[in-house]
Amino acid sequence: MSAENLKRALEQHVALDAFLTGDFGLKGDLPMPAAFEQAEPELVDKAGKLEEIAEQIRQCCKCGLNETRKNAVIGEGNPDAELVFVGEAPGADEDEQGRPFVGRSGKLLTKIIAAMGLSRDDVFICNILKCRPPENRDPKPDEIVDCMGYLQQQLDIIRPQVIVALGAHAARTLLSTNQGIGKLRGRFHEYTFSDEEPPVKLMPTYHPSYLLRNYSQDNRRRVWEDMQKVMQELGLELPGK
Ligand code: URA
Repeated sequence: MSAENLKRALEQHVALDAFLTGDFGLKGDLPMPAAFEQAEPELVDKAGKLEEIAEQIRQCCKCGLNETRKNAVIGEGNPDAELVFVGEAPGADEDEQGRPFVGRSGKLLTKIIAAMGLSRDDVFICNILKCRPPENRDPKPDEIVDCMGYLQQQLDIIRPQVIVALGAHAARTLLSTNQGIGKLRGRFHEYTFSDEEPPVKLMPTYHPSYLLRNYSQDNRRRVWEDMQKVMQELGLELPGK
């Protein structure tokens, strides 16, 4: 094993240990995402298409949440990601910074991604709603309908191999079901793109903010089991193997 691979494996073990045993820091700023202007043509093309959608989102006033938001939270990460995480809606920190999952639950999500041997720059992270609902209330059905087209277009461009739906709102919306997250999580479902392309696998799991509120060994183990299935599907090496 090269020194670089050994370092990555060790970092992954430390991240997994921190996630499963519980003592991880949730303070401090997350690094800014990588810039993609210098990358291969396909990546630059996808980044350009995502930026066109980003501009539409910034101008959007379909549902009225633009009136109370500070910043639209478009999504960030690798435009060519094999893995996309979809959350519910921006919270106060995300609204402030215009970036997804940068508050406490975002820091926990970042730890989970690190435990998978990945970084935020390897994956793409976004939400069902692009604007913060006031007081972090649940998204309204009309808001989801108005916003969903943006997420569908983002997923059509990125074409990930696997989508992880974080929490009940994301899972129910992406799967068009009313089932609870406890029933949905733990096994793959299918997400169908808006064209004729074959569907991809979608793994629902608990939302990091639910995990923070219910921070038991059992819940962390369940999320880690879900992520191991995702890693297997992506051909990623499981720690300890
Ligand atoms: N919760 C979400 O669902 N999304 C975010 O971006 C942050 C918190």
